[in-house]
Amino acid sequence: MEIKKIGIIGSGVMGSGIAQAAAQSGLEVLLMDTEDEYVQRGLEKIKKRLEKRIAEGKLQSAEGKKTLSNITVTTSLEDCKNADMIIEAVVENEEVKKRVFTELDVLCREETVFTSNTSSISITRLAQATQRPGRVAGMHFMNPAHIMKLIEIVRGVRTSEETITALKAAAEKMGKVPVVANDFPGFISSRVMMAMINDAIYCLQDGVGSKEDIDSIMKLGAHHPMGPLELADLMGLDICLNILEVLHAGLGEKYRPSPLLRNMVAAGKLGKKNAEGFYEYK
Ligand code: NAI
Repeated sequence: MEIKKIGIIGSGVMGSGIAQAAAQSGLEVLLMDTEDEYVQRGLEKIKKRLEKRIAEGKLQSAEGKKTLSNITVTTSLEDCKNADMIIEAVVENEEVKKRVFTELDVLCREETVFTSNTSSISITRLAQATQRPGRVAGMHFMNPAHIMKLIEIVRGVRTSEETITALKAAAEKMGKVPVVANDFPGFISSRVMMAMINDAIYCLQDGVGSKEDIDSIMKLGAHHPMGPLELADLMGLDICLNILEVLHAGLGEKYRPSPLLRNMVAAGKLGKKNAEGFYEYK
């Protein structure tokens, strides 16, 4: 099935980036969130990023306009009923994600493919919240989604090969590179990345080095474009904690979230999105 119309559920950090990537490639996008204020905020972020690219001469103004015209915002799940594909990007909470899928399962056509941008939650379990487990898969974009090339496509136990083929084609249409991983806690990307981020936070907590030293060592020593603490701030510390909880429950002690991370989240220091994490942001 050719995918032309996408319903994106959740217009936060990831949902707005995914909407931009999809709309830029000519797909018709419905961006949904629970409150009008949230969808408008998501749309505003997209507008600002497009305006910046136009100002820098990296994007034609007509192309920016076309991208925006491909996006419709809504606060009603029902508006997504005619989508060919759903990309769920709500909070990293299994019950909330299952509820969204169960509601959409009743609304959408039988052939609509459901995907989740989850960083760690079992696709196989999410699929069981629907009557279409063969048409459910993970579509794990990297942050920032409008820039990063990789999409980790996650194959649940019941995901059909037809679904995987359709998702690979959709990813390529968005100018992305799909790589398929099997469903296991944290798939490949989160499992490997979060082990590093959690250890970097333990290093900071144990006084092994300052935040700048830890980040510099990984940037200069391992050729990472950003240090693990900068990356955690970019991802959102609440999201990092949620992923680590899933990895800890699924894979054991190695992934126990550091007490420092727990404290920061409890104190409302969530990283770049609220201007305060390991670093401060204007
Ligand atoms: P976020 O907190 O920025 O955005 C989540 C959005 O979902 C919010 O706007 C919220 O209002 C909305 N939402 C909550 N319940 C909803 C519902 N029932 N219906 C519609 N909208 C609802 O979170 P973020 O960072 O965008 O993460 C979203 C998903 O993407 C999570 O599953 C996360 O694990 C995953 N992810 C996050 C990455 C990151 O670096 N932040 C990277 C890759 C994946």
